[in-house]
Parts: sequence; C-alpha cells; structure tokens
Amino acid sequence: MQWTLHTRATDYVVSLLPDGSGVVLDYWGERTDVEREAWSEPARITGWATPSDSAPLEYASNGQRHTAFSELLVDRGDSRTGASWRVDEAGIAFETGQRGDSLDVPFIDETGTLRLTLHATTSADHDVVRRWITLENSGESAVELPRAFSAGWNVPVGQRVRVDYLAGSWSREFQRRRVDLDWGTFSIGSRQGMTGLAFSPVVTLTALPDIDSFVRPASHAYGVALEWSGSWRLQVDSNQVGQSTRVSCGVDDDTTTITLLAGESFVSPQSAGVFSADGVDGVSQAWHRYQQLALARDLTPWHRPVVYNSWMATTFDVRIDHQLELAGIAADLGVEVFVVDDGWFVGRTSDRAGLGDWTPDPAKFPGGLSALADRVIEKGMRFGLWVEPECVNPDSDLFRQHPDWVYRAEGRPLLSIRNQYVLDLGRQDVVEWVEDVLRTLLTSTPISYIKWDMNRPVTDGGRAGDPHGREWSVQHTRSYYRILRMLRAEFPDVTLEACASGGGRIDNAVLALSDVVWTSDEVGARDRLVIQDGFLSAYPAHVMSSWVSDDLGHRDRSPSSLGYRFAVAMAGVLGIGSDLLAWDAEERDEAGRHVARYKELRNVVHRGTSVTHGRPTDNLYCVEYRGPADDERIVLFVYDRDRDRTRDREQPRVFPTTLDADRRYRVAGSEQVVSGASARGSGVLVPFGFASDADVLVLDPLD
Ligand code: DGJ
Repeated sequence: MQWTLHTRATDYVVSLLPDGSGVVLDYWGERTDVEREAWSEPARITGWATPSDSAPLEYASNGQRHTAFSELLVDRGDSRTGASWRVDEAGIAFETGQRGDSLDVPFIDETGTLRLTLHATTSADHDVVRRWITLENSGESAVELPRAFSAGWNVPVGQRVRVDYLAGSWSREFQRRRVDLDWGTFSIGSRQGMTGLAFSPVVTLTALPDIDSFVRPASHAYGVALEWSGSWRLQVDSNQVGQSTRVSCGVDDDTTTITLLAGESFVSPQSAGVFSADGVDGVSQAWHRYQQLALARDLTPWHRPVVYNSWMATTFDVRIDHQLELAGIAADLGVEVFVVDDGWFVGRTSDRAGLGDWTPDPAKFPGGLSALADRVIEKGMRFGLWVEPECVNPDSDLFRQHPDWVYRAEGRPLLSIRNQYVLDLGRQDVVEWVEDVLRTLLTSTPISYIKWDMNRPVTDGGRAGDPHGREWSVQHTRSYYRILRMLRAEFPDVTLEACASGGGRIDNAVLALSDVVWTSDEVGARDRLVIQDGFLSAYPAHVMSSWVSDDLGHRDRSPSSLGYRFAVAMAGVLGIGSDLLAWDAEERDEAGRHVARYKELRNVVHRGTSVTHGRPTDNLYCVEYRGPADDERIVLFVYDRDRDRTRDREQPRVFPTTLDADRRYRVAGSEQVVSGASARGSGVLVPFGFASDADVLVLDPLD
C-alpha cells in the first residue's frame, strides 16, 4: 500500500512495509509524474545493520528498531522496553482532494492494548507536510512513555549534511548558526518549560558534497520544525544506515515522561516538514507562505497595528498624566495602538512585587484604567495593556492567599527567577482563575491589544502523588494554548502580542494563536537587524514586532540615524518605544513621515515574500519584499553599515532577485527604470534619499 500526499509543489510518498510493521518514506521532493517505487531493503546491508534499523521508518519505536534511534520508548515496568507493531488495516484513512490530503495509519502493539496512529496532512496552499502521532492505551495497566516524539523525518540529503539553525540568549535571539555534520548526532532543545531563548525548534538541511553518488543537488533544501512551546528536543542523526539523515523531534524526553493510565491517550504536538528546490532561502519562503496562509488568522493591519509602547520611557514609573502626554505625541505621529506595559497594577513599583494582583493601582489610576483608555481612544488610537498571567511575585496578595498554586518540586526550596514563581497551570482551578482575570480586564476596560509576557522558565514542576506529575511542562503548555484560544474565541478583536523576555517563546504553535511576537528585548538598531535577519530565516515579517528606540543596544553600539532605526522596524511590524518627550519637533516630524510611509508599504511587507541579501554586518545589507499577487510592488530596505562610501567610485547598488525577469519597474520617486533581468545583473542604484545610512526603495511594475 502506497500513499502520495501532495503539497503545492511537492510530493510526499510513503508506503506500508510488506509485513505491516511500519510506514516508510519512498520519496519527498519536487512533484513529478514518475511513479515512486516502494522502499525495499537494500540488496547489500553492510555491517551489523538489521532491516528494521535501515528502513526509513516514518516513526520508530524501541522494540521495532534494534539498535537505531527510536522516536518512541514504551515502559510497562517489565523487562521489555518498547513495542512492535502490526497495522490495523481497517482503520487506515486516506483522503485526497483539491485542497489537500490526509493520512492516518493505525497500528496495534504485540500486547493488543496500545494503539499508535501516524497522522499526516498537506494542503494545496503551501508546501508543508504536518505530522504527529496519537497513542491510546486500551489495556488495564498504566504505560509510561519516557519518550513520545512527534515524528521521524527521513531527509533525503545523504549522510553528510549541513544544518542551519537558530541559537541565542536573552537580547540576542535568532542568531544564525551552522554545523556541518559528517556522521554523528546533533541535538538542540529546551528544558525551560518553554520554547526557550537558546534554540528555535527548526532546522534546515542541505546536502554537503559527498563521495557517494546518491546525493541530491545542493539547491535541494529541507526544513523541519516542531510546533510546540513547552520543553522540546530536536535531533539530527546522520549515523544511520541508509541514504538519508533522520530528524526526530517532540516533547523533551529528558524532563518529561508521559503516563497513559487505562483508557488514556496522548496526542503529540505537530511537526512540520518542507522541501524547496531553491535552497535555504526557498525553505524560508516556504515557511513564510505556510505561516501567512495556514497559521495567521488574518494578515490585516488591525492585528498588526503601529504600536507605541511606553515601557522604555517609564519602566515601572507609570503615571496617568505622563502616559497621556506620551499618548498625545504618539497619536500625532500616526500610532494606532498605545500600549501600557508593566507597572500599571497594584503594588507594582518594581519587579519585586505585585505580579498576580491584576487590578489597576488606585494610586496611579485613581479613576481606574478606563480613565486612561478612554482618553487614548479619544485621540484616535486603540488601547493596549501588558500582562504576565502565568507568574506571581512572592510579595503579592495572590501568593499570600494561594501559596499552593505555584510549581514546587516536593521537598525542595522554591526557585525564584526575576523574583517570581510560576503558577501551576496543570491545575484546573488556576487556569480558570487566569481566564477570569483576563475576562474581567477585557470586559471592564476598552482594551483591544494584549501583550502577554512571561519572564522566567517554567521549572520545578511535578505534583506529588499525581500519576501525571511528570507531564507538567506539557500540561502548562496546553493550558497556555487553551487560554489563548479562549481569548480568540471570546475577544476576536483583541490583538495578541506574544512575548517571553523578548523572543523566549516563539514557534509555529505560538504563531497560530497570537498575532505578533515581541522578537527580542534588544532594541539597539544594529543588533536588532542581526536578530531580524535570523528570525526571517524561519519566521515571517507579519509577526515580527519591532520598535524604533534611542537605545544603542548591547553589542554594536555605533549610532545610527533615526531613518536607519525606522528602516529596521519598518521591515516587520512597526512600533515605537522611545521616550517621545525627548524627541524635538524635527524628530517628531521625521518620525511622522516614516510612519506614513510604512503604512503605504506594509501590505507588501506583511503579505509578500521576503529574501535577505548579504549579512547585517556587511557594509551593505538588504531585505527585499515582493508583494502579493494583488500588489506586486518590490520594497527594498537597504542598510549601510559604515556610511563610508568615499571609497566607492560608483554609487552603491543592490541586486534584488524577486522581480519578474522581463518586466520593467520604476524606482519610485526617481527616473531609474530597471527590468528584472537588469536588476539581477547590474543592480539598482541606492541614492540614500531616506536617510544617510539607510534607504527604502519601492519598485513599481510598469507593465
Ligand atoms: C520583558 C519584555 O520583553 C519587555 O518588553 C517588558 O515588557 C518587560 N518584560 C516588562 O517587565
């Protein structure tokens, strides 16, 4: 039995092993008319490899494999670890249609009590294949799953592979990193109860030049992502016998054990895989298309408005008169939503107190929060508010009333990070309390934008006596999703910005439940550009919230013009974080012009395709956007690193690649006309009319 799942431009072909013990990959790549042969055991298997170890299994369990890595470990408390499978043919479901395909293949283990179903779906809108598993225990005894990953991906790039990934730390997220794996295992993940700041759950694989003959062209690239916001692990394994490198990913197997009591089931997070014949950039664009069309609820400006956030201007010193002064200027600049960040609620004069007590501080807001919100709305903006609903300060009424509501590893001291504990969202009563807090805020005040923050890892869970106590990171994440879904369902007009000390919880699952993400606490424009460059390799511009700021940043502190800072923020979802009272009339004037320009261009930035040229640390770096079918403008954001152009005899040029080859384009505001072919070959002149160190060029198609 063989099944072909179609994406927009690729085929994903799998078949059932003749003995019905598993599903294997037959083909994953460009769509062709060629019939794919079902995988069969290679004629010569060298060394110790057994047939099941060398098979490109879509999902492998210990007990089925003999020595190779398995996505599933099953522990029944007896001498056998693992499970072996026979297909339940009657339960196979394959649906193929114009809009996409889906496949479910169920298996029963040798005891007849554990059922494993492999799921896969595709869509004709994009090139992503989504895969996950369900495990159901119909037996009478409990089964433990020390590892229950979502999928194994047999990536057909041979065994010498280049892995591009994103690594970082606080204020330095999404740094592009690369490792060349020449047989071995590479593993990234998070044990932070969250996606984490250290790694993003996504990798891109390309073949390295190989001595073997079966390797695909270097332009063939594959991306694999895990759509999960709790602790996770993703492993790239190029050890195995066979012609592919295996990527396995799922809920972290170091800190989490899933328990299935009699009658219980576990549905894993989804994993996503994508192929592109256009190399690493093609994979980025394929992710963007998927995130735009399948994950975002919409791409309208309503859910990605121009933000003013007062955090950097005030920190915890929130005063209504000051906020109103800032709001007045923000409105004049064309800002669409005024967001009050941390510090608005009772007891919150520093990060040491107040978290958990979500009522407006009467000293700061004697007339309540609505007194500010109403005035902001009168000025023509929406009103937004910061919350951190998952955490509590020890110095808060909430903690004094409910000391048992936080995660605590039995017998161990509580761990406070940024002076706060994490609420145990595995408890139904706590989740309901959080939902009620949010409902009360949103119904009592005209708030239409929420910035949901989370400023520490989720640690030290494990409810004593609870058989599911070692699943707290999974439970926490599912409750977080549940609350986000509630917000969407009950308050559809409220825009949600997801944040975790900057970019500590960004992944495709969060993108599906939020509108924008606060990419990083790094607002220095030059450092930010490096972060955005990495971010855009896996995530899209329509979620990339970015503020103009006067802060020079942490690493490259060389100053940049106001125009440069706007050009950095305009390449995503524009916001302003500066102390507007410190800007003089000229700066406000200039800022107002840039906001207006951004509004003219954002349709291209948010709904289009993006590609980066060079590196932000190069002297000239460019981010190119091509608009969607109904707005085929090209927008080029150009950043000049050192402004020393005296050494160039000619004016600088950039070489955009998304123009149609035989079409002509006029560079808006100039006489320059280029064709797609000439732009690729001879480039487009950059006059630096926008700012001395940055330019924003718009290429309008003429025919
Ligand atoms: C961390 C966020 O990333 C910042 O933008 C700000 O909201 C602070 N938390 C407030 O405590």
